[in-house]
Parts: sequence; C-alpha cells; structure tokens
Amino acid sequence: MQTHEIRERFTQHFVNAGHTAVPSASLILDDPNLLFVNAGMVPFKPYFLGQQNPPFPNGTATSIQKCVRTLDIEEVGITTRHNTFFQMAGNFSFGQYFKEGAIKHAWSLLTNPISEGGYGFDPERLWVTVYLDDDEAAEIWEKQVGVPAERIQRLGMADNYWSMGVPGPCGPCSEIYYDRGPEYGKDGGPIADDNRYLEVWNLVFMENERGEGIGKDNFEIIGPLPKKNIDTGMGVERIACLLQGVDNVYETDLLRPVIDIAEQLTGATYGTDAQNNIRFRVIADHSRTAMMLILDGVTPGNEGRGYILRRLLRRIIRSARLLGAQGETMAQFMNTIMDTMTPSYPEIAGSRERILNVAINEEKAFLRTLESGTKLFDDAAAAVKAAGGTELNGAEAFALHDTYGFPIDLTLEMAAEAGLKVDEAGFHSLMAEQKARAKADSQAKKHGHTDLSIYREWVDEHPTDFVGYDNLESEAKVLGMVAGGEKLSVATAGQEVEVILDVTPMYAEAGGQLGDRGLIVAGDARLVVNDVQKIGKKLWVHKAVVEGGDLAIGHSVTASVDKQWRHAARQAHTGTHLIHAALRQVLGPTAVQAGSMNKPGYLRFDFNYTEALTPEQLKEIEYIANQAVDTDWQVNTIETSLDEAKAMGAMALFGENYGSRVRLVEIGGPFSMELCGGTHVDHAAQVGPIAVLGESSVGSGVRRIEAYSGLDSFQYLSKERALAAGLAASMKAPTEELPERIAQLSEKLKQAEKELSDLRRRELAAKSMKYVEAAHDVNGFRVVAAQLPAGVAASDLRTIATEMKDKLAGSAAVIVLGVQDGEKAPYIVAATPAAVSRGVKSGDLVKVVGEFVNGRGGGKPDMAQGSGTNANGLAAGFEAVKSELEKL
Ligand code: ALA
Repeated sequence: MQTHEIRERFTQHFVNAGHTAVPSASLILDDPNLLFVNAGMVPFKPYFLGQQNPPFPNGTATSIQKCVRTLDIEEVGITTRHNTFFQMAGNFSFGQYFKEGAIKHAWSLLTNPISEGGYGFDPERLWVTVYLDDDEAAEIWEKQVGVPAERIQRLGMADNYWSMGVPGPCGPCSEIYYDRGPEYGKDGGPIADDNRYLEVWNLVFMENERGEGIGKDNFEIIGPLPKKNIDTGMGVERIACLLQGVDNVYETDLLRPVIDIAEQLTGATYGTDAQNNIRFRVIADHSRTAMMLILDGVTPGNEGRGYILRRLLRRIIRSARLLGAQGETMAQFMNTIMDTMTPSYPEIAGSRERILNVAINEEKAFLRTLESGTKLFDDAAAAVKAAGGTELNGAEAFALHDTYGFPIDLTLEMAAEAGLKVDEAGFHSLMAEQKARAKADSQAKKHGHTDLSIYREWVDEHPTDFVGYDNLESEAKVLGMVAGGEKLSVATAGQEVEVILDVTPMYAEAGGQLGDRGLIVAGDARLVVNDVQKIGKKLWVHKAVVEGGDLAIGHSVTASVDKQWRHAARQAHTGTHLIHAALRQVLGPTAVQAGSMNKPGYLRFDFNYTEALTPEQLKEIEYIANQAVDTDWQVNTIETSLDEAKAMGAMALFGENYGSRVRLVEIGGPFSMELCGGTHVDHAAQVGPIAVLGESSVGSGVRRIEAYSGLDSFQYLSKERALAAGLAASMKAPTEELPERIAQLSEKLKQAEKELSDLRRRELAAKSMKYVEAAHDVNGFRVVAAQLPAGVAASDLRTIATEMKDKLAGSAAVIVLGVQDGEKAPYIVAATPAAVSRGVKSGDLVKVVGEFVNGRGGGKPDMAQGSGTNANGLAAGFEAVKSELEKL
C-alpha cells in the first residue's frame, strides 16, 4: 500500500466517525519554545489547555501533521525507524470521547481488513503498553478489545506518560506495537526489544497540565485540564514500512527512489556495506526533510532553523562524497524526493524551482568550503605531526566548524585517516560556550532576561486586548510590572520597567514591524514607552522608563501611541507590501519572502533569490511601487479564514495556523494581498514617495532590498538633489551633464598624472647625471656611490639606478645608492654587464650595505634592493662595498 493511500485511509476512517479533517499546519509555528512542529497536537495546544474553544462541529478533529525532529539525527540510518521528517496521523477529542473511544478507533483502523478501509494487520501480532497504574486502559484493552493479558505491558513515566517536554498539556498514554518477528530481535514484547516490536501508534489521554522540569519523567503535574482529551499519533512512515514489507523506514515508496538515484550518482551499491547503508539512508532521509523545510520557507543559515537545514544539506553532500560522488548531486536528490512527495503535498509543484535553487546554492557553497577547509585541516594536521603530537586540539576542530562549517564528524573522520585523534571534549565545551552565548544574546535582546515563566500567569489569564488598529489612545489598568526579571508592585522615577496592561493601543513588534512608541500616564506618573514586545502572541509587554511619579499595580492609566511614530510606521509597512508586490512582478514567484523589517521612514525586505538584481530591475521595482502610490489604491483589511484568504490569492507566509481567523491586507485588489497583522495606511497615496536605497546579499540565496518611505524618502531625495546641485556648481555645468563632465575630468587627471610622472623621471635622470660624472675608479670599476637627497622615494631608486646603468653601460660600473625616507633607509646596488662578467654580484653587495643600515634585501647580480632602518650607516656601507670591489 502506497503511503499516499495510507494517509487517505486514515483520514477517511476518522471523517466517517465525525471528525473534522484539518490540513497540516506549517512546520514553523510562532512558538519560541519550538524550532519545528514535532507532534500532531502542537497546533491544537490552545484547545487542550482550554484557552480557546475548538472550532470543530463535533469537538473532534483529525490531521496528518508534518513533523520534524532532529534531536536523534545521529540515529538516522543506524536504527530502522528514525526519520527526521515524518508524518504524524492523529485523531483528537476535545472533551468528547476518552480512553475507550481512542482505543477502539485505533484498533479498528489497524485491524479492519483492507477491503473494508483498514490496514489489515493481524491482531495476533499487535502488543500494547499502558502507564503503570492505568488499570482503566488495561481493562479496556483486555475486556473490550480482547488483547490477551500477556500482550499488555506496563511502563513508567519515561515511556508512557506524554508531554511536549515543556509546560503544557500532558497525560498517561498507551502505545500500540507490531511484532516484526524473531529475525528482528528477542521475544518478550516491547519492554524487551523496541526494534522487533515496532511502536506504530501512541494514544495520549490528555488530562493534566505539567509545569517546569527537565526530561521525560522529572516534572511537576500542576493539576487537571478543564476537560479530558484525546491526542493520538500514528507514524505514517512506520505503517508504510510494515505494509510495504520493507526492512526500515528508508526503503518505503517515498524514500527508496532517493537511494536508487544515489546508487547511480555514486557508483556504490546499497545493501552491501553497513557503513555505506547508513550513508544512503542519511541521504534519503535528509533530502526529504531539507526539501520540506525549504518548502515551508526555511533557508540555510548559521542559527536556529536555518542551521538545522544547513546541517541536513551538508550531511547529504558529505554522505554522497563518502559514497564516491565526485561533483554536484543535490539537484537529482531534490528532484527525486519532490516527485515522490508531490501526490501528498501538491503545493510542492509550485515551489520546485525555488527549492532547487536554495539547495543547489548551499551545495555549491559547501563544496567550496570543503576545499578550503580541507586545506586548513591538512595544515593543522601537518603541524601536529611535525611537533610529534597525535591529537588535533579542540580549538582547531572548533575553528574548522565555526569558520568553515566543518561538521565535527567530518573532522573526526579526516583525522582518523591522517592517523590522528581529536580532542572532542575540548571541541564540545567550546561549542557549548558558543551556544549558551547565542541563546542568552537572542533572548536578552527581546525580553531583557531569559526566563519567560514570569509572564505565564498573565499570558493564560489576561491576554492583552489590542485596540490599536482603530484607536491611538485608550484607558487601561496596570495588571503587572516586571523589572530585572522580578515582579514589581510599584515603579518609581528613573526606573526601567515592563508594564502589562489589560488594554493597549500600542502595536507590539510582529510581522517585521517594530513595536510602537508611546506614553503611559496616570495622575502625575508618566512613563515613556520605548518598545512593545509580544509574549506567546497574546501578552503585550510595554518597555518603559518612568519619567516622573509612581506607578502601581491596579492604577488606571491612559495609554497613548506616539502619533507621528505610528503615522510613519504605517507608511513603512504599507510601503513594504508595495515593494513586495512590485518585486514579484519583476522577478516572478520564486522570489519568496525570507523576512522583513520596517520602522518609521525605513523598510527592508529579504527574499530568496540567487542573483544580484540589475540596476534596471531595481529601478523597475521602485517605479511599480511608486506607481501604486500614485494610483492611490484603497488599502483594505479583511478578517477571514485561512482557506478563504488562500482562495482569494493571498500570499501565505509561513507561520500561519489553519483554523485561526486571519487578517488579510489587500491593496488594489490582486496587486497585493498578504496575510498581515500590521498597521497600514488607508490609501496608498498616504505612503508618500518610496525611495529604494539599493540591494545586497544577506547570506546564501537571500537578498535584501532597502528603501525609505514617507518624508524620509523625500529628505533622502532632497539631500541627493542638493548634492547634485553642489557638484554642478563646483563643476560649473548643468546637472544632467555631470556624468560626462566628471568622466572627462578624471580622464584629464589621469593624463596630467602621467605627464607629471614622466617629468619627474626626466628630472631625476638629469640630476643623477651629476653623480655619474663624479664616478671614480675602484680597482678598475667605475663606481657611483651616493646618498640621494631626501624626497627621493624608494620606488624612484630603481628608476635612477637603471638610468645610471644605461649611461655607464660601456664600462664595468657599479652603482650604490641610498636615501633616507622617513624612518626607513632604502638602498640599491646595480652593476653593468661588464661589471657582472668581472664577478660583481649585486645581491651580495646589497647584503653588505644591509649590515650597516640594519637592513634586509636581495636580488640578481645586475640589480638588487634592500631596506634598512638606519640611514646614518649608508656612508659606511658604501665604503664596505668599495672594499669588496677591491677584492675582485
Ligand atoms: N502527541 C503524541 C506523540 O507525539 C501522540 O507521540
């Protein structure tokens, strides 16, 4: 049974039982605790916690959620069941059916015959586990389903109590396993061997809420959730592995074709060598994960999600090389995996070119990296060996990683080949230091401190009521204050505080738009708000400084937005949408947004594109955006469902959640439609002029366009105009003639410089004649030895010496010149052909001078140069040269 069909049967089974089929959410949801969606329940979290009512008619839903887990990346290909990307099929009940319903639904789908829509598994081969004291579940399995008691096993918290690993919903769970037979491991059920007994489905009885804690079994259970819920997760790839009769999850219909193409490209054969098998599986697994991440908008980078994508892509490239691939292979891997995944994810079709571009660019860059990094490695290894060592130190391994992106295992392997060890502990401790720094930096930037748990109670109980789309001022109550990571009841003059209000008109930073500036006033208490940040999408945190008076919890305040700030912020944000729309008109749909930032007067927009834009493209983008301003399109915001927004043609950015209401910002009908929560002008003309500053690269395959908006554009253009006018005045030419006049001028200047240097050379030549005339005889040589007047530069010495040599060419002559040039004393020795044939070696003589002027130098027999630091020694040096000549 093909994977696509496994998915369809799952959905059908639960839709038949009244569940609402919900499409997979993006792999990227706006949750600071979560790099990627890693379980089917993640998008449903607010319903489990009772924060929102589930929008499903029967209170039940089913989904097949894209998931990425990279914690076990080292296990990929070694075990038979670890995928970094997998599809979790789940059914969810929010306060409706509980243990019995969940168990029966799962059992019937697994064991119903294929002809009746099930998967047709032999019930005799299924085993189950339950949580230690969960007699209720054990009894349902035994009495109602008929699983014999000896195939029901009990496991503790680490295995059979499920939570997201962070505070949130949790509960005991029951897992279903399939016995693959004795050839896969020992008897004794899942507790004895989790390779032979393959876990296929986890049923979580979500009834409690957990608090802080570390690990799977070391956290506090705070108390029951408002309702008893069901969350289940069936591993689609594991079911496929079993139903397709293959040995492991890398050989199913979706991934096997990548292994096949890897065989062709590398010349190696799958299934013949244990080490190589792992490499083939890594290529298959990672190609899919990388492709799905790029599909959802991730681009390779050095932190967070981007780093994980980069790591996956690099592991593919490296594995292919270790298997024997010579050149580039990424395009074939990506094309193959896109082919196999498109039936389940039709949206891939429209993104093929973009996905290829991103992956191929990373490959090109990494292949270059490998080359330069290999050189660095070879040098380091040679140095270790030359010093009689046997180990590459941690700092070197870290530098390879940090500067060249060398994965540590690559360093380890190369070291092993070179017969060296690596100080891995040293490497890991440097890595840990770096990670801790990065984490502290990024969190501190947003919230001033790293622990967000202090806001928890407000997030849950008092989500902020944002009224700032329509109002710039509102009455509000102070719900809480935080300073230095501690809660505070009164803030006094001079203090920096974070203020939580029940209602606010101030926009919190999101969607690229910076937070508003404004004021909070209560009686004589006056706070200036410098920034507003959002926590968990729901809580507005106003970062403020108390200018005067005291502010206390419970105070009634007036919160107001700085009108000028907001006016300019709206201009910049709408301007960003106009630039985005113009950009896609000019560059086409592969120029997908990668990020943006806007604040009063300024905007920047990052997008996936592999080439620099031409000046013409930039000009066109600027023109189209300004044309939209000139047309004065109406700007409409529409609240609608995600599906409807997509149907209307809105550009769906990553991070949206199905089901939720979305806000669509539309400018001029089809011209621009984006899902956006930002603040916008009402009419495009209010944006004012948009002046593009330029474009640049911000990492592999990502480019940035920057622009001014509103009055800032005007000021920028006005400054440029003043500049041009100033130039025109000083050039005494009309502005439009400036380019030509400047070109002429620089041509003239070049000419003049050349004439000047010719003149100077002639003058030096003339002066040098005086010294030539004063040449005297030493042992039959005509010798010119002179310290030239200061002002002659080192570079002139050669010209003068050559000139003199030519003058004296008819005789055996030797020229020794030096000069004081600031702190330095450059000198030169030259010999005519006749002198050289009598045995003069300028290179040796220049060393003789060097001894007296503290200099170093060398050269050929006919001419050699040096430079010293003691010009006072020149005269003695010349004498020493003469003595040398006496000896010939
Ligand atoms: N949420 C459960 C899991 O991820 C079903 O295993």
